[in-house]
Amino acid sequence: MLDVFGDFSANDPAAALAEAAKGCPYQWQPETQALYALRAGDVRQVLTSKDFWSERAPDRRAAALSEDDRQRRTKLKEFLALWPVFSDGEHHRRVRRVAIRPLRQVVTPALLGSWERLAGRRLAEAGEDAFDWVDHIARPLARETIAALTGSADADRLIDLGGLVMNELATSRIEMARIDAALEAIDELRDWLRTALTDPPSAFVAGLAELWDDEKFGPDSATALLTQIITGAHDPVVTALCVAGERVTGDMLTELSPRTVREEVFRIATPFRFASRYARRPVTVGSHRLNTGDRIVLCLGTANLDPDFHPAPLEFRRRTTSPRSLSFGAGEHYCPGAPLAHAIVGVLLDSLADLGVHFSVENAEREPELAMLRYRRLVGRLVRHGSSRAVPRPSS
Ligand code: HEM
Repeated sequence: MLDVFGDFSANDPAAALAEAAKGCPYQWQPETQALYALRAGDVRQVLTSKDFWSERAPDRRAAALSEDDRQRRTKLKEFLALWPVFSDGEHHRRVRRVAIRPLRQVVTPALLGSWERLAGRRLAEAGEDAFDWVDHIARPLARETIAALTGSADADRLIDLGGLVMNELATSRIEMARIDAALEAIDELRDWLRTALTDPPSAFVAGLAELWDDEKFGPDSATALLTQIITGAHDPVVTALCVAGERVTGDMLTELSPRTVREEVFRIATPFRFASRYARRPVTVGSHRLNTGDRIVLCLGTANLDPDFHPAPLEFRRRTTSPRSLSFGAGEHYCPGAPLAHAIVGVLLDSLADLGVHFSVENAEREPELAMLRYRRLVGRLVRHGSSRAVPRPSS
């Protein structure tokens, strides 16, 4: 059984996820009242099936809350229901269109150049000293992306606010402190957007006026899209950049193609480990019968380590037969930020390869929740390929 509420701060759960992928295809979870599907075949099938959608059914757990708590939780759920990923039908199609347009244009030569310079400079500066990869490499690179999407002036504040919303999504439990922090952050994001729309600092922000000014959508839909893009472009990207630091060795960089290493980084990372869906009609998954409204949690984190699709799943290797991993989902909600995420991780891997170094980890600390892989610290030092010696700092 996979312990979906376990504390994984001290141990990398990859082995537990791989074990669960092999051993137990389904798991009923009374606390979340959901069936968890763990094998890659089921996960892909449900993600691409018309029998399921993203719109949440009422959550029976809310009955145990006080009236005041229930109202605040409902307010947050109503806001989240406006995100592309948690919506369906006409609303989903429209907000996805508004999201995709600027995302197609954001990976410009200028952004690639700024990632390259930043990664090259920060790696060269690190020398032989121990440093925290999260603060020194991953977050600064992801910040450049938020700055490109929203204008640089307020990028740090927007990232912090997005992080508070993400913190609520990271747990499957109902925790009022996280809900309240997320609600406050959303109010601040809406206020920021109201002001920003008077003189938009980027094409993406300007595009949000289309939703803000449309009475069928309005400020909350525009703020919901802003929030999903900020959180999508930051937290999982930081995670993927951390996994590139933690797991990629010099041998991989010299012996595997850059594309293979990059694909394996995303497969092994799977920053979002779960995706929820709800049955639209009575339907069967494996031996389980779901009624209309029943919840199924698709475990991307185990599906990507399913040995039937990815033999020796914990190894980085060239994979010829298996389909691409499910890290970016599949079907109608397939992540529109995937090209951006591929590009930034590709730049970091190229920078490591160009300098002939990889990162050797001495201490890794993660957030405890299984639902999302997020690193607190990743301390280590750069090592030259083929040597166990740290890299001397370049003379200035
Ligand atoms: C490593 C980086 C990323 C990972 C692993 C990731 C993962 C995912 C996954 C799994 C989904 C689908 C969830 C579901 O079907 O329930 C998704 C959707 C989405 N992602 Fe990403 N994402 C990443 C980066 C980004 C970036 C960079 C952006 C934007 C700048 C972004 C924006 C979105 C949006 C807007 C959706 C909703 C799409 C829809 O519902 O139509 N993501 N992402």
